[in-house]
Amino acid sequence: MLKIAHVGCGGMSAAWLDALKGQADIELVALIDLRLESAQAARDRYAPAAFAGTDFDAFIKENAVDAVFNCTIPEAHFPVTMAALQRGCHVLTEKPLANTLSEAQQMIQTAQQNERILSVIQNRRYQRSIRFIRNCIESGKIGEVSELAADYYMGPRFGGFREEMDSPLLLDMAIHHFDMARFLAGGNPRTVFCHEWNPPQSWYRTGGSAHALFQFENGLVFNYRGSWCTNGAPTSWNAAWRIVGRKGSIIWDGDDRVRIEVVEKASGFMPKARIRKPKIPAAPNHESGHASLIREFIDCIRCGRQPETYAGDNIHSLAMVFKAIESSRKGRMLKVHFRPDK
Ligand SMILES: NC(=O)c1ccc[n+]([C@@H]2O[C@H](COP(=O)([O-])OP(=O)(O)OC[C@H]3O[C@@H](n4cnc5c(N)ncnc54)[C@H](O)[C@@H]3O)[C@@H](O)[C@H]2O)c1
Repeated sequence: MLKIAHVGCGGMSAAWLDALKGQADIELVALIDLRLESAQAARDRYAPAAFAGTDFDAFIKENAVDAVFNCTIPEAHFPVTMAALQRGCHVLTEKPLANTLSEAQQMIQTAQQNERILSVIQNRRYQRSIRFIRNCIESGKIGEVSELAADYYMGPRFGGFREEMDSPLLLDMAIHHFDMARFLAGGNPRTVFCHEWNPPQSWYRTGGSAHALFQFENGLVFNYRGSWCTNGAPTSWNAAWRIVGRKGSIIWDGDDRVRIEVVEKASGFMPKARIRKPKIPAAPNHESGHASLIREFIDCIRCGRQPETYAGDNIHSLAMVFKAIESSRKGRMLKVHFRPDK
């Protein structure tokens, strides 16, 4: 039985704790939050026999725990993850992995030194729809891909930490879209040019909107337009995507609508495209967000493998975020290329 301590019992924690239901090989031994009432409410709902408290460091010093779920706010990811790794626990953390690249590197080194798994919930790359889109790309239907474009326009009123933090869109949301772009591109970016700003209608302290242009190592270009302060006409949480290949294009609304147009005979002024609108098939369990990532993490602990979203890989998505922020501040294109071991 794998003993798990869950830290951070706020809005997102239900997605984690619901996903644990029916997992026979784990035991939730502690629910911890700076707000005792949140920890107690989660304990009462999900694991009545577990400990509920506010002091993670004290708990982890005195109790045997195999793995820690870090579902705290971004600025607490580093201290909670480091304390867990230093006590010999495996860690699955909410995105973003860390609040800076150097924090992320320290976490990765500590995980390596202690031979522990450190992995990140990038649940959007585990959805059936994006897996389907990637399969379409890999099948060669549209030929070699040269361009990805993603539009993300939303106006959520979260309240809380997002409205106070620096770069909320890029750090707290675009991390998903950038990770999805790496997943679809099958590689890592080389450069970024970004403009981040806070439009007049924004209810965030900083960075409600950003546009970023990435060039990948394989030459592919990724164009991202994002906003967390748009009133009206929202896109999907996954963003709306256009994927341009040598022979055709894929239009994906980010949810369940896909359109594939392929030009088979390129003759005439506007060659006719063959249009298909495939149905995205139902998801096997391993392709369904938090539950699939948590299951993979547990299986990896048991058989000593690295999960798909282990920190050593995820740092490339995080580098896209921080280099985009830096590019905007400096007003110039920057290298993103990042070697986690250096
Ligand atoms: N993967 C996704 O799709 C997704 C969606 C939403 C949020 N998130 C991420 O989940 C994380 C939590 O977001 P949320 O919306 O639940 O925030 P929230 O503010 O609702 O909850 C965070 C909780 O963490 C607690 N906390 C903060 N520091 C702590 C510490 N040092 N020790 C113990 N508890 C601590 C707070 O008291 C709060 O209850 C963030 O990193 C966010 O980016 C991910």
